[in-house]
Amino acid sequence: MAYTAIELIETKRDRSVLSPDAIEWLIGAYTDGSVPDYQMSAMAMAILLNGMNSDELTAWTEAMLHSGEVMDFSEIAAAKVDKHSTGGVGDKISIPLVPVVAACGVYVPMISGRGLGHTGGTLDKLESIPGFTTGLTPDEFRKVLTEHGLVLAGQSETMVPADRKLYALRDVTGTVPSIPLIASSIMSKKLAEGLDGLLLDVKTGSGAFMKDLVHARALAHTMVGIGASHEVDTVAFITSMSQPLGNEVGNANEIKESIDVLRGEGPADVSELTMVFGETMLELAGVDGGRERLDDAIRSGAALQKFIDVTEAHGGDASVIEDPSLLVRAPHEAVIAAPADGYVTRCDAFIIGVSATWLGAGRERKKDIPDPGVGITLKAKIGDEVAKGDPLAIVRYGDQTKWETQSDTLSSAWTVSERPVSAPELIIERVDVTTI
Ligand code: URA
Repeated sequence: MAYTAIELIETKRDRSVLSPDAIEWLIGAYTDGSVPDYQMSAMAMAILLNGMNSDELTAWTEAMLHSGEVMDFSEIAAAKVDKHSTGGVGDKISIPLVPVVAACGVYVPMISGRGLGHTGGTLDKLESIPGFTTGLTPDEFRKVLTEHGLVLAGQSETMVPADRKLYALRDVTGTVPSIPLIASSIMSKKLAEGLDGLLLDVKTGSGAFMKDLVHARALAHTMVGIGASHEVDTVAFITSMSQPLGNEVGNANEIKESIDVLRGEGPADVSELTMVFGETMLELAGVDGGRERLDDAIRSGAALQKFIDVTEAHGGDASVIEDPSLLVRAPHEAVIAAPADGYVTRCDAFIIGVSATWLGAGRERKKDIPDPGVGITLKAKIGDEVAKGDPLAIVRYGDQTKWETQSDTLSSAWTVSERPVSAPELIIERVDVTTI
């Protein structure tokens, strides 16, 4: 059946339902350029305002998924499971998680992203390892996965091209914060990986895109529902992003902390989340042994060895994994000091993420290349007792002018009060097909 973009925009504007056929036509015509950006942006705004029902969401995700190449790893007998985080500050979990899960026999074909806004990206972090290439062809991706049981790459040109175009359009038309558009964007890319299971980490709090629990929960439920309708077992965790994860923010800093986790010496929150997510990924893969098996992979060095192997397979210099002091560090150092005696009651992930980005760990403009050596080491987080003058953070930076514009902002991320508070609960909720 033939459609026109205008009639479909009017259908959604008037709160009527788009048929699966109409959605398939629209996504196809947008991908091949016959529907222009201005009509798709009107449609995205109509969806943002009026939502989609579950049939529309299924059809939209399906059409996005099939707008390009869908990978098929059925020749690999072992289960293929991946993880996706909606993004946060200091969120390096994928880097220790993927090797530890792969060391337990589960294949992980991970496609990751770059930093977005104030949040860091796994690809930017991995590229702080000299030589590590994240842009693999589909054949190279398959080869690394088959040989090592894990691969950590960026999205290829041929995967979900509809999302590549639509995401860039939403970014400049105020249509990012739509739960059906976010859910279909994330899930179409994950479903294109040919997975058996998927773990989702939906962050909530100041440093997350979903600032409150109500929206985080709605996004988690929507994505778990899409996974179920595509027969991919999907579990989501809603986790706190009110303060950064771990003690390191910045690309090389986070690689160092990930290596600490793989050596069994990581900070409690990063290690705990890695293990809880690892157990769930093993469960999704139908692999027995859970926590004990993961602990073993760390204790024996098998997980660290997987990280060394995958680094070499991506062309990276694995000597920095054996000796993280070889990782690049920006030349200058500054200290943020506690303004008074007391207890840290706030350590704001958003402010710390924005400052790290502006200091050069992320991008101000799309074409910027992050500085891998810029980073913030947190010395005090929520619940910690400090004395006046104690370091709250140590900052490494390369550009003095940038530091001068950021030092007050970064200092404002901490509140030190007389009364102690407890650290926020790390894992807020688990969502799976039985709970939606
Ligand atoms: N990440 C994505 O991949 N898509 C969105 O729409 C938002 C975050």
